[in-house]
Amino acid sequence: MQHKNFSTKIFLDSGNPKETEQILSELGFLDGQTTNPTLIAKNPEVQKRLVDGLKFSADEVLRFYREVVETISGMMPAGSVSIEVYADKNTTARAMIEQGKKMFSWIPNAHIKLPITHAGLEAAEEMVKEGVRVNMTLCFSQSQAAAVHAATQGAQKGQVFVSPFIGRLDDIGENGMSLIENILRLYSSGDDHVEVLTASVRSREHFLRSLQIGSDISTAPYAILSEWSKEGAPMPKNDFKYDPPNFTAISYQTLDLDQPWQSFDLYHPLTDKGLERFAADWNALIM
Ligand code: E4P
Repeated sequence: MQHKNFSTKIFLDSGNPKETEQILSELGFLDGQTTNPTLIAKNPEVQKRLVDGLKFSADEVLRFYREVVETISGMMPAGSVSIEVYADKNTTARAMIEQGKKMFSWIPNAHIKLPITHAGLEAAEEMVKEGVRVNMTLCFSQSQAAAVHAATQGAQKGQVFVSPFIGRLDDIGENGMSLIENILRLYSSGDDHVEVLTASVRSREHFLRSLQIGSDISTAPYAILSEWSKEGAPMPKNDFKYDPPNFTAISYQTLDLDQPWQSFDLYHPLTDKGLERFAADWNALIM
């Protein structure tokens, strides 16, 4: 199948290069791939090692992560591959910059994932100026997205992604997809340097809705892309209606993108929880 030139770029959300290979053969294209510590921990080779009672040293686990993204990058040299820094609530901007720059040198097409926290944004502000591409992750609010826009002013289009996690908002009874709509609307008054990457996609409906509303990028797990590819990779039909259960809608906030990033409310409990989970999944691999 040829790339159909959707306005939305299609990414695979996976830490397993075998899935990349499979989707590339089923779909015929991919615009990129997102990884995170939890997805790397789920890689079958890692799981096998753990079942055999073997863990990794801190260096080994990073080497493994590097091999995974090198393999993926080789399969899609023109795509983007997101690599996430290790960060817990105590990780400083300096430590994220150090790790992030190393990771950025692993492959030619990396985006470095940094959390939307004070330290993560400080790191992003500096890294973007040095030409590093970043993917700002664990986004759960419009004001976090506004802070990303403000902290990365001056970046080239394509250099910065923001990743709102819709499935995790759904999990707490809020309509995650409405956050994507709100951020797209907010950014329509900006200069277009940040691309909205719909993440934490859990269903075919999430995925189709992200295409329908014109998210810049949508990342979906193997099963969803494989099913979509078997259907011929269709755009949602005109009568496609995204109909989530009885979720609370997330209302639109008017925000001024020209304010300094430090002035926006960066707190969201799911960002803290997400950081804890990524760190715990990563630490569980290390002896
Ligand atoms: C991708 O960049 C995200 O890390 C991923 O989509 C998170 O998905 P989850 O909420 O299902 O863990």
